Amino acid sequence: MSQIGLCILAAGKGTRMKSILPKVLAPICGKKLIDFPLKTSLYFLNQLKAKSLLGLVIGHGAEDVKKYVDQNFNSENPQYALQEEQLGTAHALKTYFEKIKDATKTDYTVVICGDTPLIESDDLLKMMECFSQDKNLNAVCATFETENPYGYGRIVKTSGKGFHIVEEKDATNEERKILEVNSGLYIFKTNFIVNELAAIKSENKSKEFYLTDAFKDSYDVQAVNFFKTNKFLGVNTISQLDDSASALNLRKCKELQANGVFILDAHRTFIEMDVEILSDTIIYPNTFIYGKTKISKNVVIEPGVIIKNSIIDQNVHVLANSYIEESHLKDGCQIGPFARIRPQSVIGIQAKIGNFVETKKVVLEKGVKISHLSYVGDAFIGEESNIGCGFITCNYDGANKHVTKIGKNSFIGSDCQAIAPIEIGDNTFVAAGTTISKNVPHEAFAIGRPPLSVKDDMAKKFIKKKKT
Ligand code: UD1
Ligand code: MG
Repeated sequence: MSQIGLCILAAGKGTRMKSILPKVLAPICGKKLIDFPLKTSLYFLNQLKAKSLLGLVIGHGAEDVKKYVDQNFNSENPQYALQEEQLGTAHALKTYFEKIKDATKTDYTVVICGDTPLIESDDLLKMMECFSQDKNLNAVCATFETENPYGYGRIVKTSGKGFHIVEEKDATNEERKILEVNSGLYIFKTNFIVNELAAIKSENKSKEFYLTDAFKDSYDVQAVNFFKTNKFLGVNTISQLDDSASALNLRKCKELQANGVFILDAHRTFIEMDVEILSDTIIYPNTFIYGKTKISKNVVIEPGVIIKNSIIDQNVHVLANSYIEESHLKDGCQIGPFARIRPQSVIGIQAKIGNFVETKKVVLEKGVKISHLSYVGDAFIGEESNIGCGFITCNYDGANKHVTKIGKNSFIGSDCQAIAPIEIGDNTFVAAGTTISKNVPHEAFAIGRPPLSVKDDMAKKFIKKKKT
């Protein structure tokens, strides 16, 4: 079994991003740019089931990049090679071999750029296969064809079995017309590339050590042409970051559609990579589904909804413009429109949360209804209780939060306030307009309203004449 070393080049400055962030830490689809080549690499190594090593060449913003990767990929044991001065891609790979000693002992070395988030594991597998077809092969380079090759290295095929690569700056006018270009993704036999790197010089317009100089017409090297594809889209500017993010989002939506999720307009639906959605769920446009959200089947998500890190069971209906965060919506409940479900809300089976209702840290049991204009925080409400319009849990005393408990089958009239901590029992009836300032036992009726006086014929004293 061959040993594989995988090197991610991530030392570059990203000058054209015009941001203080190291380029590979740029935000994209709820993640950072570096997440994508890292995930693809790990998936690929896993698929090969080969003994492997994963190394990152870091330089610009090295500390931050290392910290982020360690935090998020620690279990994968990534290794780092610090490239203090960025002298070119060949110099970067040389640094990898010098600083990560075991890297030279591998059979194959995969090189992938930290700023190409659309590459998939299957693309790497396709390139790897070339080595089993031709035992003498020393290197493969992924290439593609583009109408606008500006900035890319051109694939020049003249005589011999191999080819060479000419960078934009060094190309002749004739060479610039070539539409097959270098993607920056390679697989090398390790012995071959280690020897080549020692010989590469910086005799070119940029005075950089080009990794592309490892490809020569007389060599046993192969270009794997992926033809017209966006897979190798590189991120050099924020506008290109947006292009890649759109492509990744579309890919995610299309994957879900292929699994039976009714995403009605994939171009206007934003679903982050770790989100899971089951079939026959309908997602209307202008929805944003983030983080580790899991949505079951037969759910309806109406337009303008934002959902973060939540669990949504089957048959739930989320009406337009609702905001749901770190919560659990149980089977068949209905939310919104314009509801705000804050963290740690558990909305029970068949429960109903209506418009302009805010919940936080609540457990609402089966069939609870809070249909309009309420704030319910730090509360437990038993099954089938009905909470009228304008109910407020007064849960905060300026220093601490307190709990409101309401039993099952209770009716709380409109415009009541519960002064927490407080307990209201089962089967209670609290009249509208009551400030509930002491516990209400099971079966009790509670009313707390100032007496109303009604004075006959007195309205005219208060009615002002309108100016004409
Ligand atoms: C490179 C290729 C070009 C190819 C293009 C594809 C060379 C000489 N040219 O050009 O043929 O068409 O990619 O996008 O390789 N990096 C380091 N250390 C360095 C220099 C670069 O780590 O000293 C990293 C960068 O962070 C980046 C990658 O290597 O992830 C590519 O470097 P970049 O300077 O962007 O190369 P290109 O000019 O795009
Ligand atoms: Mg580049």
